[in-house]
Amino acid sequence: MKAVVLYDSAYGNTRRIAEAIDGSLEDVAAEAIQVPAFRPGELRAGDLLVVGSPINGWRPTPIISAAVEALGPDQLEGVKAAAFDTRVRLFVHGDAAGKLSEELRRRGAEIISAPQPFFVKGTEGPLVAGEVEKAAFWGRSLLHAVGL
Ligand SMILES: Cc1cc2nc3c(=O)[nH]c(=O)nc-3n(C[C@H](O)[C@H](O)[C@H](O)COP(=O)(O)O)c2cc1C
Repeated sequence: MKAVVLYDSAYGNTRRIAEAIDGSLEDVAAEAIQVPAFRPGELRAGDLLVVGSPINGWRPTPIISAAVEALGPDQLEGVKAAAFDTRVRLFVHGDAAGKLSEELRRRGAEIISAPQPFFVKGTEGPLVAGEVEKAAFWGRSLLHAVGL
C-alpha cells in the first residue's frame, strides 16, 4: 500500500497541512504531490488517497476539482480516500473538503474519514495555532482506519 496526499495551495498553508499528513503516515510509502504534478496512473487498489484544497469562493479550487474529476472508477476502485480543506473562520465559509469527499465517493473511492477542515487566520495565513499538530493526528487516524 502507498499513500498520496494530493493538494493545491496558493500561499503554502494547505501545503504545510499536506506535508504534516504525509509525515504522519509512518511505515507507509507516502508522498505529498501538488497538482498538476499528479499522474492518475500512480494509484492502485488498496492505496490511500488524501485530497486537500483551500476553499476558494465556497468551493475547492478549479485545478484540484479538475484533477479529481479526471479520475474514473478504473483509477479509484479499491482506493481508500479522505479529503481536507483550509479555510478562514467565518460564519459563512463554504466548503471544499465535503465537496471533494463526495466527488471521490461518486467516482468509486471508499471514503474512510469525515471531511476535515483546518483553519487559517487570513487569506494568506498563517495557520491557526495547533492546526499542524491536528493534521498529523488526523493523518495517523487515517492509518488506523485502513487497519495499520
Ligand atoms: C479568491 C479566494 C477566495 C476565497 N474564498 C474563501 C471562502 O469562500 N471561504 C473561506 O473560508 N476562505 C476563502 N478564502 C481563503 C482561503 O481559504 C485561504 O486563502 C487558504 O486557506 C490559504 O491556503 P493556501 O495558503 O494553501 O492557499 C479565499 C481565498 C481566495 C484567494
